[in-house]
Amino acid sequence: MGENLPSIRILHDTDTAGDDSTALMMALKASNAILEGVTINCGNVAFDQQVENALYTIEVAGKSGKIPVYPGARHPLIREWETAENVHGNDGMGDSGFPRANQRPEQKFGVDAIVDLVNSAPGEITLVATGPLTNIALAVRKDPSIAKKVKRLYFMGGTNQYLGNVTPAAEFNMWVDPDAAKIVLHSGMPMTMVGWEICMRHGLVNRSELDEIAIMSTAEAKFFAAVNRRAVEFTKEVEGRDGAPCPDSITMAIVLNKAVATDVRRKFVDVDNESELSRGATYVDHLNVLKMRPNLDVVYAASERLFKEMLFRMLRGEPV
Ligand code: RIB
Ligand code: CA
Repeated sequence: MGENLPSIRILHDTDTAGDDSTALMMALKASNAILEGVTINCGNVAFDQQVENALYTIEVAGKSGKIPVYPGARHPLIREWETAENVHGNDGMGDSGFPRANQRPEQKFGVDAIVDLVNSAPGEITLVATGPLTNIALAVRKDPSIAKKVKRLYFMGGTNQYLGNVTPAAEFNMWVDPDAAKIVLHSGMPMTMVGWEICMRHGLVNRSELDEIAIMSTAEAKFFAAVNRRAVEFTKEVEGRDGAPCPDSITMAIVLNKAVATDVRRKFVDVDNESELSRGATYVDHLNVLKMRPNLDVVYAASERLFKEMLFRMLRGEPV
């Protein structure tokens, strides 16, 4: 188990598909995290399916009824919503055909849940966004004061001088709702960006690890293998890499143990929400040529070893 790490109060905002549910499972199994709730945004697959995926993940973790799940925005701020069943399977969970969880979602709107939780505990709530930033943007628009009350927002999104994964320019979460990303990046919120390149360099569960997981008997290992099944097929076909990309869970690992992020630099970062060709592209001003005040902490490198130690503790059913 990780050395005595500080206890963290987390709200996980997610477009629950395989990698998101792996990240959620890590938070549910973390000995130093208090998961205050889950809010659902519009990303990977059909909205109500994402809600069910989050509820089922909580059930597999043995926390059914203990972690509230709040449906958030069912549509990006402006753009038409385009999903990614081709990456994750029609259910987002590797087409595993999981049963319906007993727990039902809350009636409260996810954006209101974010605003109310942050206002109830200024300086204490860490937001972890592993999908498009629609809910976070709406929360900041509803109550701009939360930007200074959030302890920190960690988001999986964008790229730092690296190819996109949904277009040559853009990573999926930023591409789905670039207008929300624009609002959040300029909100003044303390935030850390974990780009797609961190996953491809340090967060890919490789073939030999997948083979090891395939023969593990824990519920967590079987869940991981199932929910990431389609993403493994997609990654081999499109990226030519044989493994399971874990962008959301390496982001969650960084939240749970800051030592996972081995190189973090404060930079000015902006996002393109105007052009079509580079819609959703994030530009990290690495050389400070724009002379703009830095607005983000960018993770430049992460410890694959530490991440995988945490991931495998979860897969063995041990506290992360
Ligand atoms: O680009 C990868 C990101 O988009 C991941 O968070 C994945 O779940 C999707 O939301
Ligand atoms: Ca996601």
